[in-house]
Amino acid sequence: MSPRMKKIVIGGLVAGIVAFGAAQLVPVKGIGSNPPERFKIDAPPEVDAILRRACFDCHSNETRWPLYSRIAPGSWLMARDVTKGRQHLNLSKWDEADDEERVLDMENMWEQVEAGEMPKWFYVYPMHLAARLSDADKAALKAWVDAAKAKAKAKADGDEKPKEKQKDKDE
Ligand code: HEC
Repeated sequence: MSPRMKKIVIGGLVAGIVAFGAAQLVPVKGIGSNPPERFKIDAPPEVDAILRRACFDCHSNETRWPLYSRIAPGSWLMARDVTKGRQHLNLSKWDEADDEERVLDMENMWEQVEAGEMPKWFYVYPMHLAARLSDADKAALKAWVDAAKAKAKAKADGDEKPKEKQKDKDE
């Protein structure tokens, strides 16, 4: 290597190290923070396990923050995903929702999983291979969502009948 090349390479390395170091000083909002709300999801243990494994890091207050998530620029990406993910759906705050809203969320969850949108691929590969969903996992999720939908429908039908009777009486 010519002396000039050497200078350029070393200069580049130093600049890279300095930039990496400086990046660590940028404050990242939300990193490592798990707000206090928790919610016990009404789901069979295998479904609960799937949600914890594949969704909880971004859609609950029980995020696991690995070491790399604290190092820029990974920390910036992860903080953004968790903040955005929790804004769209935070399963730890499900007690603020009523049954109807929860069933809507569940339908939405299944749609995302069926479409292959969730869990996000860049989360799964390569750091969270355990979050991959097998066909059996998807079937279990779907069965859980379908059961909740059926229950909500039965309840809605049950609520309607007395009203109809009331109407008959009025006429
Ligand atoms: C790496 C973080 C991450 C993981 C893991 C993840 N999500 Fe998401 N999810 C997001 C983000 C971020 C959004 C916001 C919309 C977007 O950016 O696509 C979102 C949006 C959603 C939405 C709302 C979609 C809409 O447009 O209304 C649902 C439902 C959802 N995710 C379900 C799931 C389910 C179910 C799992 C697990 C199987 C899961 N997500 C795993 C990050 C994640």
